[in-house]
Amino acid sequence: MNASTMLGLAPALGWNSWNTFTWDINEQLIREVADTFISEGYKDAGYEYIVIDDCWSLKERDADGRLVVDPVKFPGGMKALADYIHAKGLKFGMYSCAGTHTCAGYPGSFEHEFQDARQFAEWEIDYLKYDYCFKPRNIPGELLYKRMSLALKNSGRDILFSACNWGEDNVPRWIRSSGAHMYRSTPDIQDRWDSIKTLAHSQLDQECYTGVFCHNDMDMLVVGMYGGSNDEFIGRIGGCTDTEYKTHFSLWSLMGSPLMIGCDIRKTSPAAKEILQNKDLIAINQDPEGRGAYRIKPEPQWFHTDEVFILVKALAGGDLAIGFFNMSETRREVSLLFWDLGLPYASGYSLSLYDCWSHQELGLHKERFSPVVEAHDCLVLRAKLVD
Ligand code: GLA
Repeated sequence: MNASTMLGLAPALGWNSWNTFTWDINEQLIREVADTFISEGYKDAGYEYIVIDDCWSLKERDADGRLVVDPVKFPGGMKALADYIHAKGLKFGMYSCAGTHTCAGYPGSFEHEFQDARQFAEWEIDYLKYDYCFKPRNIPGELLYKRMSLALKNSGRDILFSACNWGEDNVPRWIRSSGAHMYRSTPDIQDRWDSIKTLAHSQLDQECYTGVFCHNDMDMLVVGMYGGSNDEFIGRIGGCTDTEYKTHFSLWSLMGSPLMIGCDIRKTSPAAKEILQNKDLIAINQDPEGRGAYRIKPEPQWFHTDEVFILVKALAGGDLAIGFFNMSETRREVSLLFWDLGLPYASGYSLSLYDCWSHQELGLHKERFSPVVEAHDCLVLRAKLVD
């Protein structure tokens, strides 16, 4: 298989400018993020893409209909920035929109798809996020994502296509066949617990809609933002606790979402860095078989609420990743019966459990496992069958 046929095999790992910086982006920032990928271990942990979101261009195209890079924000131009990022062994992403304008009112790619795809390839980008604002109402979104996918695949460069229509218009039914490598299934995330909880709940029992080459994108991470966005909607005050960020990262990892960091990695906390660089969680997220995670309702059933659930992801080679989530306001026991994993007692197998957050072995267990999980917290295990 050549390289291009492998694009999008695993969920993308990277950083995106939107959550923290929104419109306030520039060349220096992007270079410093690339430097930080190397100096702070993000590249070693597997993060690869550095993506500039909305607000990078001028408000009008030039006389030939070309997109124009904002010369104040990016005086060296995009090709030079791509070179800088590539020289570090990283990949470079940009943003456009299926409509006439981007969500922030800059030119979109509607009716300019092939021209823009060629332009992006000339700048040597590796990733395009493609938004959904200002889409003419009578044009099906499905067609517009097919158009840009075709344009990118014929641009002469491998460009990962990240569709972003917020879960609208039955997107999971048609996005895989359009050629996109990932697709947003949710509205925009905010840097607060309620938002994490709502987005995660909306994706429970949707595991058939993710997989290799077209991953369910639950939106960029807010881990490590602590209310530090310059945008009021995303969240300027409060943010979340480290426990909540840990649960957020565990959910996105298990559910197979791309992991696109949204905080200012140049100055986030050691705790957030540890969460973002948890190699056991990243390995689960990047498992080569790319299976979605199914939900098990914990025992006893009369005790069940949607706020407490177990997610299970079948991994290549026969291990299972198992997450115990307590989204409620009180400490809870979250009991898993191994029968519900397809493992009957009579099989003779035990599960050898490994805790992916404490990085400790938890020994051999038979028939059931019943951890107590604090409010807003989780436990993520890697389980191996042992006879
Ligand atoms: C939409 C997207 C966001 C971000 C903004 C930019 O809201 O969903 O992720 O790209 O547009 O304006």
